[in-house]
Parts: sequence; C-alpha cells; structure tokens
Amino acid sequence: MVDFPISQAPAHQRHGSNIGQPMTRREGVLKVTGRATYAADNNPDGMLHAVLAVSSIARGRVAALDIAAAKAHPGVVDVMTTANRPKLAMDPDAKESPFMFRLDLLQNENVRYANQPIAVVIAETIEAATEGVALLAPRYEAELARTSMDDVESFVPKAIRLVSPPEARVGDVESGLDQASARIEATYETPGQYHNPMEPHSIVAAWDGDRLTIDTPSQGMIMAQGRIAGLFGIPPENILIRSPYLGGGFGSKGLLSGPQVLGILAAQLVGRPVKLVVRREQMFGPVGHRPATRQTLRIGVDGEGHLTALDHHVKTVTSTFDDFIEPAGEASHTLYASPAISTTHEAARIDIGTPLFMRAPGEASGSIALECAIDEAAKAAGMDPLVFRMINYAEVEPISGKPFSSKALRACYARAAERFGWEGRPLAPRQMRDDAGLLVGWGVGTATFPAVMFEAQARATLRDDGTGIMEIGAHDMGQGAWTALAQIAADSLGLDIGVLDFRSGTSDLPDGGIAGGSGHTATAGNAINSAGEAVIAKLAELATSDEQSPLFGAGNAGVVARGGRLYRRDDESRSESYVDVLARAGLSKLDAEGKGAADAASRNVYAMHAHGAVFAEVKVDPDLGQIRATRLVGAFAAGRIINPRMVESQLIGGMIWGVSFALHEHAAMDRRTGRIMNANLAEYHVPVNADVPSVEALTVYEKDTLVNPLGIKGVGEIGITGSAGAVANAVWHATGIRPRRFPVLPDDLLAMN
Ligand code: MOS
Repeated sequence: MVDFPISQAPAHQRHGSNIGQPMTRREGVLKVTGRATYAADNNPDGMLHAVLAVSSIARGRVAALDIAAAKAHPGVVDVMTTANRPKLAMDPDAKESPFMFRLDLLQNENVRYANQPIAVVIAETIEAATEGVALLAPRYEAELARTSMDDVESFVPKAIRLVSPPEARVGDVESGLDQASARIEATYETPGQYHNPMEPHSIVAAWDGDRLTIDTPSQGMIMAQGRIAGLFGIPPENILIRSPYLGGGFGSKGLLSGPQVLGILAAQLVGRPVKLVVRREQMFGPVGHRPATRQTLRIGVDGEGHLTALDHHVKTVTSTFDDFIEPAGEASHTLYASPAISTTHEAARIDIGTPLFMRAPGEASGSIALECAIDEAAKAAGMDPLVFRMINYAEVEPISGKPFSSKALRACYARAAERFGWEGRPLAPRQMRDDAGLLVGWGVGTATFPAVMFEAQARATLRDDGTGIMEIGAHDMGQGAWTALAQIAADSLGLDIGVLDFRSGTSDLPDGGIAGGSGHTATAGNAINSAGEAVIAKLAELATSDEQSPLFGAGNAGVVARGGRLYRRDDESRSESYVDVLARAGLSKLDAEGKGAADAASRNVYAMHAHGAVFAEVKVDPDLGQIRATRLVGAFAAGRIINPRMVESQLIGGMIWGVSFALHEHAAMDRRTGRIMNANLAEYHVPVNADVPSVEALTVYEKDTLVNPLGIKGVGEIGITGSAGAVANAVWHATGIRPRRFPVLPDDLLAMN
C-alpha cells in the first residue's frame, strides 16, 4: 500500500480569527503540484487493472460472451462474469431501506438499462483489459426498450426524495383558481442529466484476508463502509476507506455505486489489488442521473397581485427496478405564499439506470418550472416580475406553517437587483438590443434550498508542544472542506491555523457524516466546534483548579482561548500557554470528542432554508436563435460564511449549472434503442468559460443562530435554483417566446420572427 499523507500541507500562518477569512485551499499546493492523490492515483504493488464491459442494449439479456477470446489475450488475467463472480453475503437486489439502492453486480444475465455492467476484464495493464473487453463481443436477446414516460403506465410513488410524501396540500386550489382575476397554466419539460464529475467513479481495492482497504471517492464513507460490510459479510471495522480528495461528487458519490463494488469483487476474484475506473461513456447509466420531468403549473393571481392558488404537478421517470423519484414539486412548498397550494408527483418506469440525487435534487428541476410559471403569472397580472416575487414570497413556510428567515430574501432581491441594474427594465419583451443588433433580455429567479443537517463526530487533541489535532472523517469534493473545516477547528481550539494538524478523509476517523444536501459544513463544522470547545473546557478546568496557575479560580466561564493561550476574561494580563498547563499537569496530550446534529426542538418550530435572488442577461441572435448568457448576478443569504472565497466559488459553480440547465445540458436518448447518443463530454454540452462571460455571486449578511450553534446554512446547491429560471425568463424577455422545454435551443425560438 502506498503511504497515505493524512495530514495536509500547513496553511499560511495567521493570527486571530480564521472563520470569515477568504483563506486559500489548504491542499491547494498539493493539488497544483500533482501530489494530491485521487483514488485512481494509487498503484499498490502487484495491482491489476479492471475494465467494465457494459451493455449496448437497454433491455433483454446477455446471451453469450466470448470469454475464451478475452482470456487468450496477452496480459488478461481473468474475466469476471455471472459464472465466476465471488459470492456475496447479500443479494444486490435486496433493499432493506429506502437509502439502499439495488446494484448491478453480475447477479444474472438480465439487462435493465444501457451501459449496465455485464462483465469485468482484469489484466496486467489497462490496455490489455480494454482490449479484452472488446474481445468479449457480447450477443444479446434484446427486447423493445421503454424509453419515454409516454410509453408506459404511470403510478403515484409511495415516496419522493426516498422518504417524503408524494403529495402535499394546503387550502383548495380549484376555488383559489376560480377566485383569481388572472391565471396561467403551463407545462415545462426538463431532460435527463447525467453525472459527470471530472473524476469518474474509481476504486483501488486491496484485500488482506477478510480485511479490505479501498481508495475511492465518497461523499459518505461510513454509509459506504456499512454497504460493503453488508454485501461482503465482513465487519465494518475491517474496511478502511480512503477518500481524501474527490474530483467532484454532486450527489453521484453519496452512495456506493455498482462499479465500485465490482472493483472490490474483481480484487477478491484474482487475489490481488485491483484498480477500476469507470470510463467517461460508462458514466451514462450505472452511477445515477437527474431524471427527465414534465411539470404542469397552474397559478391564480388576485387584483392586488397576490397568489390565490399554486398547483404544481410533476411527472417523472425512474428505473424499472428501483425507486428514486425526483422531488421536483417540493420547490413549490417553501417559497411563495398562497392560501392554496398543491404539489403532486407521478412516475413512470422506463429502461434506464436508477436516477439519483444530483446537485439540488428536486429544487433544480422544480424551481426552473416554478420560476418560469411565476414569471408567466407576473406577466398575466401586468406586474414587474421582481415586484411580483417580492410581494409574494412567504414569511411562513406555506405547507408546514413554520416561520422562516425569508426576510433575508428581501435583502437578496435588493442587493442583486441594484448590482445588476434592473431598474428601467422595460416590462414588455423584445425591447432591448445591443450595438450588434442582438436581442437583449433580463430575467430574475428566486433561489431557495433547505438548510439541512446530518450527524457527525469529531475528536480534538491538544499536544504538549503547543500544536493541536482535529480529526474528522469529512469529505472534500473540491468544495473546500479541508480549508473551511480547518478554519472552524483552529478557532474552536484557540490555535493559530499553522500549528493545527487537520486530519480528514478516511473512514477510521470519527464519522464526519454525509457531504450532501449542502449540509456538510454545518454538520461537520458544528461537530468540530463542539470537540474544540470540549477540549478547551478540559484544559481550562486543569488551569483554573491549579493554585500554581495565574488563572487559578477564574472558572471555566471566565477563561478565553486564543493563540495557544488561556486568558482570564476579566483581566487579560493574567494568562497561561496551553504548553505550560499541560506540562504542569504532566500530560503529553489532552483530547475530547464533539458532535454535530440538528436541534430537533428548534426544527419543530422553525423552517430552515437558505435564500437568494439571481438576475440574468441573455443575448439572442434574432436570425439564428443562438442564445448566450452574458451576465449573471446573484445575492444569497446562507447564514454565517466560514470562507468567502470557497463560498463564492460554490455559488458561482451552482449558477453556472443553472445556465447549463437552461441552455446546455441534455442527455439525448435514442428512442429506438434506449441508448444515450451523446455519452461523452464533447456532445453532452456543459458551459465553458465562453458560455458565461460574467458571473457574480454576492452574499448578504445573515445571522441565524436557530439553525445551529455556528449559524451555518450551506451553499453547495442553492446556486442552481434561481439561476436556471432567471436565464429562461431572460430568454422570454429578449424574444417574447416562453421557454417550456429545457435546454432552450435555437429551434425553440424559430417562431420569434
Ligand atoms: Mo448533493 S445532490 O446532496 O451531493
């Protein structure tokens, strides 16, 4: 095994508070010098390479594989198929909880979606393994693939977002619509989007008896450890997961995927360490995606411009064999006040891989439809779309009736509108042109995302040399967890960040919880803070109860920790270093544990969300229909900002995904075969720099201590939610054509002339 550097390069020395500082990435130098080891960078002695063979049909069964030809290829060590795949302790099709997904682990010959793994070739080199896969030349018994939500009967799912009810209602929507003086009804379609983080799913697996060490990217190491333990029938503590860096996750690495487990099985089969990396085109199937939706919204507005009814119906697709249902209607629960709201979901089973969480699952798809419909309602009411939103946003979460901090939303609208220059925007569409004659449009969208928390633990240690350690099995997907969490750790320990050893990213550390739901900084951060406070309390107890200490008699509450010293609060001339306190007590170190979790009492009373407002400018070629987003300005209230640099980068990333949602991203399925036709990053369009010339993300001050002790909300996902709708609404303002199908393409705008 390669020696794994668990501790990061020391950060720049800085004195005073770390929280709130725009510190650069703690692991940045390692990354730019190529020394940060991503999973696939590991090459243990004796390692073999495994390559997946995947199905080219979407439905049917594998009739034959030329295993002999593959095995005869020089360098091929073995071919894993249904015939020789090592036995598992658990059926991969078993489902013990809604969070356990069925996996394709060569349990039979059936094919349930295109790109499903059907064999694994293991070889001395990746080239030999790849060649071996080509030699398998599979033959299939194909059945007609069901590829559209219109091909099959639909059903009302038992749950959306795995565990939430599929329908929610308050008031009477039909009578609300009857009473309205203006009403709209519109249907919007969103496409399948497939997970494509820069780093595809990869694993290096090494067995030692019934002990397993894996290098693999994970957004939830303890969950993955539990899943592997169940599948292989070994104790979780026998499994070490190392996941210090992820090249993006976005939800796709939240739960262990089938290909990762196949890498572990391959290592078991050949009795040697094995590396398996999912090829880019294989990402379109077995690792989850954002499913297509068709959403119908009906909105009623009274003479004063207030909503009288909001009805949001979602039809979506899921796989034939599992139950992830995109919760797109939930966007309408939490943003706009209306005496009557109804959100409902129906689903259809087609021959695709099971969908999964994808950055802002539910809210991303749902809010683009909601924000477009709200814009259409504003138009029907003859109102400016910003004013319309400002008089309709809810002070109380409409469905639950719980108050929430939507007041910060007013500040977001005002701040972003001013920065963007919204004033003077003509109400009617197609009124603005630039010097080149391009049509110019401005649009607005409201951003919202729940402020969730999971559970996490951390361990803090003070050492007799004046340094400290914070340990937590947290996950850095690239968002900056190594940095932001270390900032919290340094402040909680009262240490300069340069003498803090921050350890993270492996499963043998205290459980850092899940990096998902935009809740990682809040969850792991509060665990770290509580561990730091706990060890300082112990240290203060040692000092204040010791007659030889200048702090004797001050009591815990009377001491403050800063820069490696304890000070009397009422007399800062009396202080003592941590080193002296530990030395006199004869201790080489002192440690304590802490926890982070949601405060159920407070969550029973208050609804908790981050909010924001995004303004977009687009330019449209009036002859060709080509659309470019030229300017985006967003303002967000997301509680306490730990590191403004990382936060800005998260928000900008989310906003760019909003542009992607509105104008670029689309998995095109061949209706005849059920295969994704653009399963590569050349034809699966995502925005590049030239597609988004100017993006600004601002944060608005918000102090919310109800949400958790540190007042952290989260910024990972919210950036998409207002942006996609703002871009779509800007397209309308430029052209007079209402986008109803995403991404908006030039052909959708042909009717403008
Ligand atoms: Mo996120 S879709 O919870 O990683």
